[in-house]
Amino acid sequence: MVDSPETVSFPGLEDSRKADESCTIVIFGASGDLTARKLIPALYHLHLEGQMPESFRVVGFARRNKTDASWRAEMRISVETYSRTGRVDDAYWNAFAASLSYHRGDLTDAAAYAGLAKRLSGLGDPCLVNNLVFYLAISPSLFGEVVDRLHAANLLHRIEEDDKHWQRVVVEKPFGHDLQSARVLNNHLMRHARERQIFRIDHYLGKETVQNIMMFRFSNAIFEQLWNREAIEHVQITVSEDIGVGSRGGYFEEVGTLRDMMQNHLLQILSLVAMEPPPSLAAEDIRNEKVKLLKSIRSMTPEAVAMNVVRGQYLSGPVNGDNREGYRQEERVAPESNVETFVAVKLFIDNWRWSGVPFYLRTGKNLPLRASEVRVQFRPTPNVLFAAQRHLDLHANALTLRLQPDEGIFLRFNGKVPGNSIETRPVRMHFGYDAEFGAYTPEAYERLLLEAMAGDATLFIRRDEVETAWQIVDDIRTGWSDTPLSNREFYAAGTWGPVAADDLLEPDSHTWHNPKPAKR
Ligand code: BG6
Repeated sequence: MVDSPETVSFPGLEDSRKADESCTIVIFGASGDLTARKLIPALYHLHLEGQMPESFRVVGFARRNKTDASWRAEMRISVETYSRTGRVDDAYWNAFAASLSYHRGDLTDAAAYAGLAKRLSGLGDPCLVNNLVFYLAISPSLFGEVVDRLHAANLLHRIEEDDKHWQRVVVEKPFGHDLQSARVLNNHLMRHARERQIFRIDHYLGKETVQNIMMFRFSNAIFEQLWNREAIEHVQITVSEDIGVGSRGGYFEEVGTLRDMMQNHLLQILSLVAMEPPPSLAAEDIRNEKVKLLKSIRSMTPEAVAMNVVRGQYLSGPVNGDNREGYRQEERVAPESNVETFVAVKLFIDNWRWSGVPFYLRTGKNLPLRASEVRVQFRPTPNVLFAAQRHLDLHANALTLRLQPDEGIFLRFNGKVPGNSIETRPVRMHFGYDAEFGAYTPEAYERLLLEAMAGDATLFIRRDEVETAWQIVDDIRTGWSDTPLSNREFYAAGTWGPVAADDLLEPDSHTWHNPKPAKR
């Protein structure tokens, strides 16, 4: 259910994006990790590049005792530590920091919100007072309460078409922990905000290369004509991480990889790779197509889950020369835990374009390297010439969209090895972002914050989208019920996952294609 679609252009199509209307961003969870590592560095870069509105304020809301000056000093260190450009320019920083202030308060205390309202009304400029972005970088269990309290303090309302000012709520993941809880949360948020005021984050959508999937598909005739069951044999989406759960053992025990990565990031990539062309570049048109795609994924009975989904959990092992402990030995992880740190899924999309084409998705922690890629495997040529007559081992064409790192696109085809024989070898055509555009790649959060200030929801997850994704994940979890992991589902850290993941592709005579380390 969507309130009146807005006609806005696809982010990135403008020459240079800028948030036009002055506004105030209130960050709840201002003393947390996300604020220090991502949000403030992103806002600082937007400021550096002249993309912030003419006038803006950033108010950090948190419980710890800090002053404006001490929070600014901390934030400067964060920017120096985590920003993509490192060094901070004094003049730019001072101009930026003048817009930062700290509001001390408890998220559950009404007086703290009254104080916030008072502080905001003191800003003078009606746009700074009334155009408000509330960024919830806090525990999901508090999303509902914060929104209620903002409403009670007269800071958040369901806006009408002709309202001059606006308020928006940006919500970090996880958005619920299953379909039921996501629905409850959606209903709760929508008491005080319309759908078009709610910006549900999936930071993968802020990545340049993920945005490029649509651009690549719908602006290149030679690929789009092949983008279907006639030409494509199967598609692999791999998001591998070379880190373990680290200090997030407690969180991970509650969530597991299926909900942490598959429900959001991988299904989002899948929907962009496989959706139909939207009728326009308006946010709602694009999101309609993504939802349609997610709804076309064949639902799985528990029997189908047993056949098509594989879990894994890492044991100890070396990753990049560093010895990692097994998941069960990590801090705040139960010694007998059955929580998955790896998932591989075989999905079918039951629509005209993709009928019968398997989509293999996998993601895991403590794999050999950090890499995300989509590999489109084309069908082989008819077996009549080189392969049949000269017994050549021909490789079918493959197109790889490398999302991170070493961002690029590679096309693999067969070439004749120079000389008097007819030996062939797979060769690659390679487009690399760095080589083509230089090393500039904005951080996902820069894009997302900019779009939230500009009011463009294209890169955010709509209500029906998040709920449909949960339905898929819930079916899988029902299939797992309480079954413990089997021996074939454990993998040594530093390997490409459990053998059960290879078993998944074997009946189709396919094998996983492992991403390669970046060439330096
Ligand atoms: C987050 C997950 O959403 O994405 C983390 O909670 C994961 O577990 C991270 O490490 C990966 O993001 P990126 O941008 O490093 O690929």
